[in-house]
Amino acid sequence: MNYAIEVENLTKIYDGLKAVDNISFKVREGEIFAFLGPNGAGKTTTVEMIEGIRVPTSGKIRVLGKEMNGADRDIKERIGVLPQEFSSFERLTVRETLFYFSSIYRKDVDIDHIIEIMNLHDEEKVLYRNLSGGLKQRVNIAIALVNDPEIVFLDEPTTGLDPRSRRDVWKAIEELKNRGKTVFLTTHYMEEAEYLADTVTIIHKGKIVAQGSPEKLVEKYGGKSTLIIKGGSSTEIEGVMKEMGYGKVRIKNSSVEIRMEKRDEVMDILFRLREKNVRYREVDIKHSDLEDVFLQLTGEKLEGEAK
Ligand SMILES: Nc1ncnc2c1ncn2[C@@H]1O[C@H](COP(=O)(O)OP(=O)(O)OP(=O)(O)O)[C@@H](O)[C@H]1O
Ligand SMILES: [Mg+2]
Repeated sequence: MNYAIEVENLTKIYDGLKAVDNISFKVREGEIFAFLGPNGAGKTTTVEMIEGIRVPTSGKIRVLGKEMNGADRDIKERIGVLPQEFSSFERLTVRETLFYFSSIYRKDVDIDHIIEIMNLHDEEKVLYRNLSGGLKQRVNIAIALVNDPEIVFLDEPTTGLDPRSRRDVWKAIEELKNRGKTVFLTTHYMEEAEYLADTVTIIHKGKIVAQGSPEKLVEKYGGKSTLIIKGGSSTEIEGVMKEMGYGKVRIKNSSVEIRMEKRDEVMDILFRLREKNVRYREVDIKHSDLEDVFLQLTGEKLEGEAK
C-alpha cells in the first residue's frame, strides 16, 4: 500500500492552546480523504502543517514518501493547495488567472487541459469578480492544479455555496480523483464527506475521534435506524412499543420515533400495531448518517456549528 501522506503524533500548540493534539493518520494514494470537523477543530492548522506552511510543535509528516519540510521546493512542486476562503485577482479573466499562477511554477502546464478538466470553457474570458461563488471555487481548484500536482489540498471548498454550486464543485473534485490525484479535503459538511470521501477522519477539539469509510463509520457508530410513525395516537403507539420492550420511544409533535437495533424490526412493529388495531397515517424510516456518528462520538451537533 502506497501512502501519499503519513502523519504521526502531530501536535500544534498556539500560546498554550493545543489546536492539534497528537494526531496520526495515513492518506492512501489516489483516494479522496475527508477531514471532517466543526469550526475550530484544527482542520486548517493540520492541513497547513502538511502543506509545509505552518511549523508543527511536534510530530512527523511524510508527503509522497518524503519528510515534509517547508523549504523543500521539490515537494511543494508536487502538491496543489486551495487555502480556506481563498480569493484571486478580481480583474483578471479566468484564463489570465491560470496563466499567472502557472508562471510561478517551473513545470510547464497545459492551461487548456486544466480548463477542460474543470469545465470552464464558457468562462475563460470572464473576469474573476463576475463569476458566481461556485464558479469562483472551480477556478480556485483549477489554480491548485497549475503545477499538475499529485496531491490536491482543498480547505473547505464549498463553504457558503448554495446546494447546486456545491454539487458542481463536488463533480470537479470527483474529476480530480478520476485523473488519479490524491485529494485531501477539509469540510464541516457531513453530506460532503459522505458523498465524496473514500476515507473520513473526524476531528474534534484537535483530536481524531474516528476514522474509516463513511459506510463503516455509520455502521460502527451510527448503527441504528429510527422508525417514525406519523398521524396516529401517540399514547396508543407508545403503549404497544412499551409492551414490545422498546424503552426509548420519542414523541415529537404528532409523530412517534422508535430507535431500532436492526432494520427488519420494522415488520414486527407494524405487524403488532395492526394486530392491536392501532391506526396511523404513514411511516418513515430514517437511517443514520455521519451527523449521527459525530453526535454519538462528541455529544455535539456537527452542522449546528457551521458558518
Ligand atoms: N495562527 C494562530 N494563532 C493562534 N491560534 C490559532 C491560529 N490559527 C488557529 N488558531 C486556533 O486554533 C484552533 C484551530 O483552528 P483551525 O483554524 O485550525 O480550525 P479549523 O478546523 O480549520 O476551523 P474552521 O472550520 O473555522 O476553519 C482554533 O481555536 C483557532 O482559533
Ligand atoms: Mg479552517
